[in-house]
Amino acid sequence: MFKKVFVLGASGTVGTAIFKLLSCEKDLKTIGTYFSSGLENSPCLIRFSVEFPNDINSILKQVHPDIVISSLRGDFDKQLIVHENIANYLTANNGKLIYLSSANVFDSCWDQPHYEDDAEASNSDYGQFKIQCETLLRDRMSDRAILLRLPFVWGRNSPRLREVKTGCEIGKLRIYRDFYTNHVSDMQIAQMVQWIIKEDKGGVFHVGTSDVINYQRFIEQLITAMGMKLPEFVYQKTPRTMAVLSSRNDIPNELKWTNEKLVQYLCSSTQLASS
Ligand SMILES: NC(=O)c1ccc[n+]([C@@H]2O[C@H](COP(=O)([O-])OP(=O)(O)OC[C@H]3O[C@@H](n4cnc5c(N)ncnc54)[C@H](OP(=O)(O)O)[C@@H]3O)[C@@H](O)[C@H]2O)c1
Repeated sequence: MFKKVFVLGASGTVGTAIFKLLSCEKDLKTIGTYFSSGLENSPCLIRFSVEFPNDINSILKQVHPDIVISSLRGDFDKQLIVHENIANYLTANNGKLIYLSSANVFDSCWDQPHYEDDAEASNSDYGQFKIQCETLLRDRMSDRAILLRLPFVWGRNSPRLREVKTGCEIGKLRIYRDFYTNHVSDMQIAQMVQWIIKEDKGGVFHVGTSDVINYQRFIEQLITAMGMKLPEFVYQKTPRTMAVLSSRNDIPNELKWTNEKLVQYLCSSTQLASS
């Protein structure tokens, strides 16, 4: 029997990668949402606005998902209502939720990498919202809520990569100085979600490269690999370290990425970088 997967935010950087990869699975039926992307002609996508958070209830009744993947942006308070509604629906229907959270749940203590069991503490609005959402989902859904915490996300068409390319073209790029971080590709996240569904895994996952790298060094490697000329760097002040590393011992080797593999993936035109 096939499972129905519902990807909220399927038109975004992360959502698109997840939606495309899961759509290739023959035992899954994958449906998603968009907001402003003008995808009304896509048969498997439904328009949804966080501004009307209770609309999700009728959409859930229509879609009947077994698994919801939340890759949304939008107003924080309204997103909380959306997730409360989803948690109620999935609890009543024995479904699961995969929630895309952020390294920012640790942003009040950015002087060392963080692992899955570390206590969350944030002093930013975004980080505090992500903690609130994680807590809500855990309280309502217990182990039926699966949390993925992400560092900087990169995709071949992501705003972050476009910003680097534009910086090279105009000869000036704002970057972070003395900043150590890990990164993640849209593809690594999609592969992790695919594996979690196939293997019926649960808990918290820190998804990102297993090595931490100086931000400027990473950008230089990326620009060199793209064959572009290094621009003048304009430095912004930041905390020292923003990295979410995994201490789980059940992650297969093919799902582990290094920064080097991520740079190769961003610069190559092959669809899957699974080697
Ligand atoms: N990107 C990162 O570096 C990063 C890092 C850590 C965690 N995350 C988390 O990962 C998730 C996905 O991030 P992303 O970078 O893929 O985001 P994104 O590219 O901005 O995509 C966001 C998705 O949400 C939809 N959306 C935006 N505003 C909406 C609204 N008001 N109502 C309904 N839908 C709305 C967008 O639809 P349209 O495009 O059709 O408008 C899109 O499908 C987010 O929860 C984010 O917090 C991202």
